[in-house]
Amino acid sequence: MSRSLVTVATIRDAKRLNRRVTMLTCYDATFAKLFSRAGVDLLLVGDSLGMAVQGHSTTLPVTVEDILYHTRAVVRGRGLVGPHVVADMPFMSYQASPTDALRNAGRLLQDGGAESVKLEGGAEMAPTVERLVSAGIPVMGHIGLTPQSVHKFGGYKVQGRTESDADRLVRDAKALEDAGAYAIVLETIPAALGARITSAVSVPTIGIGAGASCDGQVLVGYDLLGLDPDFKPRFVKRQGNLGMEVAGAVERFVAEVRSGSFPDDAHSYGA
Ligand code: KIV
Repeated sequence: MSRSLVTVATIRDAKRLNRRVTMLTCYDATFAKLFSRAGVDLLLVGDSLGMAVQGHSTTLPVTVEDILYHTRAVVRGRGLVGPHVVADMPFMSYQASPTDALRNAGRLLQDGGAESVKLEGGAEMAPTVERLVSAGIPVMGHIGLTPQSVHKFGGYKVQGRTESDADRLVRDAKALEDAGAYAIVLETIPAALGARITSAVSVPTIGIGAGASCDGQVLVGYDLLGLDPDFKPRFVKRQGNLGMEVAGAVERFVAEVRSGSFPDDAHSYGA
């Protein structure tokens, strides 16, 4: 990983250069520093923080203020060089009008320090994407299983399984590309459709449960690390088991304090 700032130009070029893009969700300064050091290309301050951090059952309660708070922390942890920071636009911060979207996206860059925003939706969001891009705000699209529409879908279900739904998602991706999106997240769709959309657009696709042909992959950072031992959807490949490690470390701390073996001399100050 070069020690410069990853830009939207770097991400766009990745597709042309056949270099796979990596993105992780990140909500705080400590993980931002660690993920940055490990060489990930993009940090997404995802509205999944509503579930992962705040304990809600959907992303719908997340507010612009919440995303701003976490984006500032991530930007501080990342520092001046390293991954590109994308701030997610939460539910109802962009759907009502392009003017709302512009005001809120502007805050995420100006007050939050993000370098781009992500929003959910396909062709219906193209005018909004165009408006933000023309104001100088880079936009990442997001189609497929868009969690803010969970109640419309009736749950977190694989999308694009029928021919007409698949065709619509291809049209959505092209509309987002035409509107100026610099990359598009494809979430929970059949791998073959991930491949079809990826070859239909010239901007990078970043898949989560969308197969191996996408131009990049994104996961929720906590899922990658196995922080929640009880949550493991099919598309997550854990690279760690931090949840169990945390529990073990805390159990050892509790046992040592109770037995009196901590703190010992090595962890105490002399006169
Ligand atoms: O908020 C989020 O975590 C996301 C990813 C699933 C792409 O949008």
